[in-house]
Amino acid sequence: MKRKKLLLALAIACVASSSAWSGNPARGRDLYNMHCSACHGPTGEGVARDAPKFKFGERLEKPDFLLMQTVKTGKKGCPPQFGVLKDNDILDILSYVRMLR
Ligand code: HEC
Repeated sequence: MKRKKLLLALAIACVASSSAWSGNPARGRDLYNMHCSACHGPTGEGVARDAPKFKFGERLEKPDFLLMQTVKTGKKGCPPQFGVLKDNDILDILSYVRMLR
């Protein structure tokens, strides 16, 4: 019983600390609408050809720090954001994008 409580406390601590590291979705929404929605769609429905539909959680399996690298360097039809958006900005956008589901 004691062990279970300890594990629970540990789990809560992990969740709490990870949220401290994750982005700010309200800020992310504005940035998303400015830089990403033309292709990924205002509600994540994916308007441009081949653009993943974030609404259905497409291509969001990877953790934020990996997705952030892809967003920075760009990938095929996804334009590189290096020098355009800061790491913070991208993390904010990703936290918003994860809420579109
Ligand atoms: C010009 C259209 C366009 C814009 C603007 C755009 N994307 Fe994309 N994005 C795409 C396309 C097309 C793909 C699919 C690339 C491929 O073929 O793998 C993609 C893929 C992605 C992926 C999946 C990467 C992976 O690992 O598979 C993420 C995450 C992503 N975009 C995020 C963003 C974010 C965040 C922004 C805004 C900063 C953005 N995109 C702006 C077209 C765009």
